[in-house]
Amino acid sequence: MSSQIGRKLKVSIFGESHGRGIGAVIDGFPSGMTIDQEKLARFMDRRRPGKDKTSTPRRETDQPEILSGVLDGVTCGTPIAAVIANKDQHSADYKNVAHEARPGHADYTGYLRYDGHNDVRGGGHFSARLTAPLVFAGGLCLQYLEQRGIYVGAHLASVAEVQDDRYDPCELTAEELLAPGQRAFPVLRESAEAEMRDVIEQARQAGDSVGGVVEVAVTGMPAGVGSPVFDSVEGRLAYGYYGIPAVKGVSFGAGFRASEMRGSENNDEFYIRDGIVRTRTNHHGGILGGITSGMPVMACIAFKPTPSIAIPQKTVDYVRMEETVMQVKGRHDPCVAVRAVPVVEAVTAIVITDLLLEEGK
Ligand SMILES: Cc1cc2nc3c(=O)[nH]c(=O)nc-3n(C[C@H](O)[C@H](O)[C@H](O)COP(=O)(O)O)c2cc1C
Repeated sequence: MSSQIGRKLKVSIFGESHGRGIGAVIDGFPSGMTIDQEKLARFMDRRRPGKDKTSTPRRETDQPEILSGVLDGVTCGTPIAAVIANKDQHSADYKNVAHEARPGHADYTGYLRYDGHNDVRGGGHFSARLTAPLVFAGGLCLQYLEQRGIYVGAHLASVAEVQDDRYDPCELTAEELLAPGQRAFPVLRESAEAEMRDVIEQARQAGDSVGGVVEVAVTGMPAGVGSPVFDSVEGRLAYGYYGIPAVKGVSFGAGFRASEMRGSENNDEFYIRDGIVRTRTNHHGGILGGITSGMPVMACIAFKPTPSIAIPQKTVDYVRMEETVMQVKGRHDPCVAVRAVPVVEAVTAIVITDLLLEEGK
């Protein structure tokens, strides 16, 4: 099956943006977990569109209907299937541009891949609408991990040129990690909100869009999880992150900055605190040789600016084979990175849960 991730915990996502609904099938989720429905709803609400001017005005309630795998609020261990209805589609926005390739979007490549049978309305299966069931699955995994003292949190590290503070890579507490997710706008430095909203609004009013970076961290991660070479924790996480639409870069720890440091600077010296091996710095992002070190796992994920913008752009009609100019209609996020923050948390939680279940840890 396509659009699936995981080995022991298999999460499969289905649906199209303007079809009847979207959903997830989660196979391998442990039995006996009581789902905190309120917490799950709050988490899903963080991704929901239509809340303010930083997101698309499309209004969706995003309430999952659980069809199987949960009885009286407790997971059964059998496949969990959930559907989310699509309610606020404006398919007419896509009528005239059915064969005009939106620059930066997947219309043309989707047409090639599916011989013209892909649903282009609202981006079809390429739409970020599909991240709603991903967030549902990730929300369950977050609860599973939290019961084991493992916390996943993320924030908007930057939008265009505006920077937030960064997580403390060594002494990060669960409270600091989760604080941005409890705010209406997911930043660490509260004054960054106004600056970021400003730059997004300026782009929106100009019919343009901006990109951003999401920083994610995992605390309480047991040491010794993962494998070298292709099954590295970096590899498994990056595979998940690149499943999120609009992701164009992933780095761990110091990332590309490590290439500019001397070994003496980049190496994280070991020491022992309360009988536990730790490092004094965390340029390695909690992963060495593909295996967790016990330090916080730290990653940054770069999101490109939203491809659908109102500014006229040159493109082609790939059926008529004609060059043309198009102005994208419809309702779009002026900065996808804002709503992507819980999506990054969800993917991280799914991958970490899968790794732990696979290794029986
Ligand atoms: C949360 C989120 C919201 C998005 N909203 C939009 C949108 O409103 N309009 C749009 O054109 N693209 C949006 N995207 C990005 C497109 O889905 C994505 O760029 C497109 O599918 C092409 O895939 P690629 O950028 O990964 O190559 C969004 C992405 C995310 C993660």
